[in-house]
Amino acid sequence: MAFNLKGRSFLTLRDFTSKEIGYLLDLAKELKELKYAGIQKKMLEGKNIALIFEKPSTRTRCAFTVACIDEGAHPEYLGKGDIQLGKKESTADTAKVLGRMFDGIEFRGFKHETVEQLAANAGVPVWNGLTDKYHPTQILADFLTIKEHVGRLKGVKLAYVGDGRNNMANSLLVGSAKMGLDFRIAAPKSLFPDPEIVAYAENVAKETNAHILITENVDEAVKGADAIYTDVWVSMGEEDKFEERIKLLQPYQVNMDMLDKTENEDVIFLHCLPAFHDLDTSVGREIFEKYGLKEMEVTDEVFQSRHSVVFDEAENRMHTIKAVMVATL
Ligand code: CP
Ligand code: NVA
Repeated sequence: MAFNLKGRSFLTLRDFTSKEIGYLLDLAKELKELKYAGIQKKMLEGKNIALIFEKPSTRTRCAFTVACIDEGAHPEYLGKGDIQLGKKESTADTAKVLGRMFDGIEFRGFKHETVEQLAANAGVPVWNGLTDKYHPTQILADFLTIKEHVGRLKGVKLAYVGDGRNNMANSLLVGSAKMGLDFRIAAPKSLFPDPEIVAYAENVAKETNAHILITENVDEAVKGADAIYTDVWVSMGEEDKFEERIKLLQPYQVNMDMLDKTENEDVIFLHCLPAFHDLDTSVGREIFEKYGLKEMEVTDEVFQSRHSVVFDEAENRMHTIKAVMVATL
């Protein structure tokens, strides 16, 4: 079956069918193999790509940059304060200007509406590199990594524990529903995902035979899991929430006891990164001084263990983002 995703934006997985997501994963695998073999085809020769970042980034920025250069495109980084976006010039006007010069635009920032406005006005594909609501390119990397380690996606028991209403939980919920996973979120009730997104996922699940479980109960969520996923307890932009999140989320820390509860000795551990698993960061040390915690969402023991596939996952950001650009340009 021919796939034509040319000209499409990538704002959330909601806009893509299961087949289209499957196609992007297959393309990413192929591009990864070509890179490993040293035979890249320069599929984006002559293209100019704008990379807008309102929030910091290591993986997403580097993945877009390296993917562009691997494929012969020119990436232009536009950081916070570099352009007028929303300050002296509306998002719509900025989009119209960038669309006259660039062939594609990546946006990372706060409001999801900003990436929607860019896409509505740019006239070229816009890719969501993370908003407060969704982080769809991350899910492609997560799913490629699960396929590599577990061997399939359909029916895979994936347990996400922690902040159940952030961009990662939302995107995993949509992606898992689309791809037929057995997806569980374990979170305190006050951090359950938006009911609108849950209802959407449950509806999609009827067609894909996915299972969706949202629970406060960690044991129920991780039972028989093939993969355990967590994310930071405090996302970018909500740094005033450490105290309340620590209180709420300590029972949801991924540790060896939790991995044991899966009764699956080959369970894998995923995290979009960056992760707070030791005191080797300034924020980690600040939290230790204030609250006495040496590790937060995941223990260093799990992070460093044979279960952890987080660096394969980080690498896969690049191959999957490359697939999104190659497919849509
Ligand atoms: N996972 C992820 O998006 O990482 P960065 O914030 O470093 O881009
Ligand atoms: N939920 C995290 C994801 C980082 C990749 C954040 O938004 O900060």
